[in-house]
Amino acid sequence: QALEGEVSGFDKGDHSHFMQKEIAEQPEAVRRTLLGRLDHRFNTAHLGGIELAAREMLDIRRVKILGCGSAYYAGTLGAHLIETLARIPAHAEPASEFRYRNPVIEQDTLYIAVSQSGETFDTLAAIQEVKRKGGRVLGVINAVGSTIARECGRGVYLHAGPEVAVVSTKTWTSTAVAFALLALQLGRVRDLSAAQGARLLAALSALPDQIASIVTREAEVGALSAILAKADHAYFIGRSAGYAVAMEGALKLKEVSYLHAEAYPASELKHGPLALISPETPTLAIVPDDDLLAKNLSTIAEVRTRHGPVLAVTHEGVRLDGVEAAFAVPKSEPELDPILLNIPLQLLAYQVARGLGRDIDQPRNLAKSVTVE
Ligand code: AGP
Repeated sequence: QALEGEVSGFDKGDHSHFMQKEIAEQPEAVRRTLLGRLDHRFNTAHLGGIELAAREMLDIRRVKILGCGSAYYAGTLGAHLIETLARIPAHAEPASEFRYRNPVIEQDTLYIAVSQSGETFDTLAAIQEVKRKGGRVLGVINAVGSTIARECGRGVYLHAGPEVAVVSTKTWTSTAVAFALLALQLGRVRDLSAAQGARLLAALSALPDQIASIVTREAEVGALSAILAKADHAYFIGRSAGYAVAMEGALKLKEVSYLHAEAYPASELKHGPLALISPETPTLAIVPDDDLLAKNLSTIAEVRTRHGPVLAVTHEGVRLDGVEAAFAVPKSEPELDPILLNIPLQLLAYQVARGLGRDIDQPRNLAKSVTVE
């Protein structure tokens, strides 16, 4: 029988929950995801397991990313990275829906399946649909030798280490990093310059220390968590890649705190949900210091006009007026900023759930891997 604090042989160490431990482990997880994959000679990344020759990379006309839950949201960020850095049209789709719409499978599309456990039934079924119609699939997977890893036969292992908590934290981050590496490698075969490659390599190398500087600041999410814990509903908004972060942050809060959080593209708020903004409904905004800052500030002002409390995850140095509470992270390069902006949302979900006395590592009705349809 497992002792308290121990799940199937894993130990929480000094941490109260596996979720807390796995959040803290992210600097090491990312270091392992990066290990041996940064090629400073050619200012690129090298992912040997994808088994794609440069010629084949050049022939890719489209990328389709498939995953469920957090894997899908990390894939959404991945699609953004591939499109931005490699200039290949890329899109993520929930693997759980894919097979039901009789999808068109194209020879010049690269399909990528994302899964922490490598055992998610819906993701496996999506891969089988692609393969049955003659498509090629790469895996982005944490669990070595898992069913999905074997079904794909090639791809990228995260090497994030075992994730015990039902909710994904370190594997979301490592998946995003793996996509950054893939996007860099695809980009350098195509039009991404050596200088751009060098810029990204430097930013990737700096990520573990930057993440370490955020995960130790759990106490600083207190002002945000106090507001969310009192609410029944919250919006999480972001633009562009910030929307992928908003989706992941809202899912995390739902899973562990059981509060209703809805992610919305910030630009879409005025097309409907503004009707629901009130003093009882906080909005958490992802506000990077990038070329969309002015747009995000104007969305915040729209929410404030409707007397909605605004919380923000932003960058150091950004001035936010009328915001109830904010958490600022250090800057990376714009492509990698979403990875750092997501980490306070993990701390936030954890702290809200802890304050509400939830079963953090084993939330009700959820399993670590969903091996049924
Ligand atoms: C994440 O916090 C969730 N528990 C869930 O959405 C999970 O990401 C999803 O079920 C996919 O799991 P996988 O990565 O093991 O395939």
